[in-house]
Amino acid sequence: MITIQKANHEHIHGIAKVCIASYWATYGDLLSTKYIERMIQEFYTPERLLEEVMTTSRFWNGWIVAVEGGKVIGAGVGGMISENHGELFVLYANPDRRKEGIGSMILDAVTKELIEYGAKEQWVNVTKGNIKGIPFYEAKGFDFINEQDEYGVIEGEDFKALRYHRFLNDLHAGSIL
Ligand SMILES: CC(C)(COP(=O)(O)OP(=O)(O)OC[C@H]1O[C@@H](n2cnc3c(N)ncnc32)[C@H](O)[C@@H]1OP(=O)(O)O)[C@@H](O)C(=O)NCCC(=O)NCCS
Repeated sequence: MITIQKANHEHIHGIAKVCIASYWATYGDLLSTKYIERMIQEFYTPERLLEEVMTTSRFWNGWIVAVEGGKVIGAGVGGMISENHGELFVLYANPDRRKEGIGSMILDAVTKELIEYGAKEQWVNVTKGNIKGIPFYEAKGFDFINEQDEYGVIEGEDFKALRYHRFLNDLHAGSIL
């Protein structure tokens, strides 16, 4: 049985494992090894994850994990970016467990929290060319808005992120809640 729950300190190694494995599986052919290693080093250290599961707020709603048999098989997190706009900051499923509904369950849980914080609209950034992510968001009703530099690029790196958006109308909220 898969449970969707708020993460605590017991999940930080599982979150790191899923995110790092998914990071390589998703971006290995899209981004440089140097960029990927830099991002993993920035985001998925035990120290940072511990702080991130201990501290939640309107702007960082806290990690949500999909757990099966005590093992983290997916993770995501969102937060508010303005009065009534929320964002999905991260969403990864175990690369061997894609298309089983895990991403949908986590997205729904993140979205439900954002709606509780007052979100009427939702945003997500996806790396340009990410064919493992973009069709998922399009299936969930997100529309492409614009292209930006990818997070944290340095001189000589030309990676782009696509910003996607959807409205969280009453109908949508009703289907989630
Ligand atoms: C994106 C991701 C989290 C989605 O989670 P998932 O568990 O695989 O997705 P689900 O099984 O819940 O899929 C939901 C819907 O999206 C569709 N979908 C998901 N990925 C798809 C793909 N690559 N191509 C086409 N459709 C896709 C599914 O068909 C499904 O629609 P359905 O319910 O009508 O059949 C997961 O695939 C993943 O980890 N991808 C790699 C990492 C990534 O890109 N993360 C997003 C970074 S912004």
